[in-house]
Amino acid sequence: MLNNNISCLDNGHLGFSGVDTVAMAKKYGTPLYLFDENKIRENCRVYRRAVKKYFGTESLPLYASKAFCCKSMYRIVNDEGLGVDVVSGGELYTALSTGFPAGKIFFHGNNKTESEINYALDSKTGGFIVDNFDELYYLNKAAGERKMRQKILLRVSPGIDPHTHKAIATGSVDSKFGVPIKTGQALMFVKEALKCENLDVEGIHCHIGSQIFDSKPFTDAAKIMLDFVLEIKKETGYEAEKINLGGGIGVRYVDSDPEISLDTIFSQIKKELDIMVSERNLKSPVFLFELGRFICASAGMTLYTVGSSKTINGYKEYINIDGGMSDNPRYALYGSQYTFYKADDAKAERIKKATVAGRCCESGDVLGEDVTVPEFSRGDILAVAVTGAYNYSMASNYNRIPRPAAVMLHNGKSRIIVKRETYEDMVKNEI
Ligand code: LLP
Repeated sequence: MLNNNISCLDNGHLGFSGVDTVAMAKKYGTPLYLFDENKIRENCRVYRRAVKKYFGTESLPLYASKAFCCKSMYRIVNDEGLGVDVVSGGELYTALSTGFPAGKIFFHGNNKTESEINYALDSKTGGFIVDNFDELYYLNKAAGERKMRQKILLRVSPGIDPHTHKAIATGSVDSKFGVPIKTGQALMFVKEALKCENLDVEGIHCHIGSQIFDSKPFTDAAKIMLDFVLEIKKETGYEAEKINLGGGIGVRYVDSDPEISLDTIFSQIKKELDIMVSERNLKSPVFLFELGRFICASAGMTLYTVGSSKTINGYKEYINIDGGMSDNPRYALYGSQYTFYKADDAKAERIKKATVAGRCCESGDVLGEDVTVPEFSRGDILAVAVTGAYNYSMASNYNRIPRPAAVMLHNGKSRIIVKRETYEDMVKNEI
């Protein structure tokens, strides 16, 4: 089995977090997102311990809540002592609605609207990661109107290619995020920010991309960031106190993905950072991270019911499921690989290649093409592992398909954390 929260139960059914997935499908219907609370908590703890061990107690481990955002998740993450990054008024609202401490919320985004900026200021959000000059000037004005001093980090782009899918690489010079160091604009950005009387520049931020399995891209980015800190110091006398290196730690979706240890990656990063900081004769800045996928991906599984299947002789076999790109657009967007299980018979031999297709009117609506799977027939439950990140949060109502329910599993018990959408929900804002 791909992860230790996936098992074969005594009755041969697929277990997730020790719970019978076939029973879950029967109880709550499909498609269904399952979440494993103990796994989320375990991932938070692994992360928190590693941050404390290598980056000290001043570094707050942050969860990039775009990966999986709902009230229940903010409650768990808060309970585990993490802070969060939010990227919209909607995420901020959801976090605040659970009583998440505003001071531990950090506001990201390349085009925050004025109303979102005002909302975040009025909510006393802990920090803004300012993405560009326009935002900087507007935020300074809006903070001044409130007679506030807002803490900020400046998002810069280090010009790094983390060798990941183009759509999830974000640190290149021509990225839509942040201000590039290479063109000299980032230095001007810092100088302008230091002139803003209502903003308190705490440091700089970068996020190079996602699904990264080793420390090298992070240390490459850190080197550029520290050279930049030195340049800023020489030019202005200002020395950044905080450097946020973003998220991006990879997770295993399929057996061939590497198994990594966060502790090892962080220890390697820390070792390099210490050398680089002392070579540059800098005061030790606080290093921060904001991991998304690492926290929740392996804590998720999606269940579907198999409907009609069809074989195109000499070409392809399709296994059609009752969900698809509307609840998981990641294959359609990035060609993401997944591991498929037959929930009714967890050990069923994977005897053939088939394409697992969704039900949207879109040829690209598949979850895997020519993947190796067991025999499936109508009514069987097909489970997709490691769907806890960027599935629910990227789901849509395309073709007016209601979004699935999400169920949290905890110590053998299950509870609904997001209700299944109804047809009435589909039309509730329509006049
Ligand atoms: N920080 C920033 C500024 C980010 O933009 C992101 C992700 C993260 C942290 C968290 O990255 P993670 O640790 O989750 O890799 N929808 C895509 C991923 C998009 C990531 C966007 N930013 C996917 O499904 O793979």
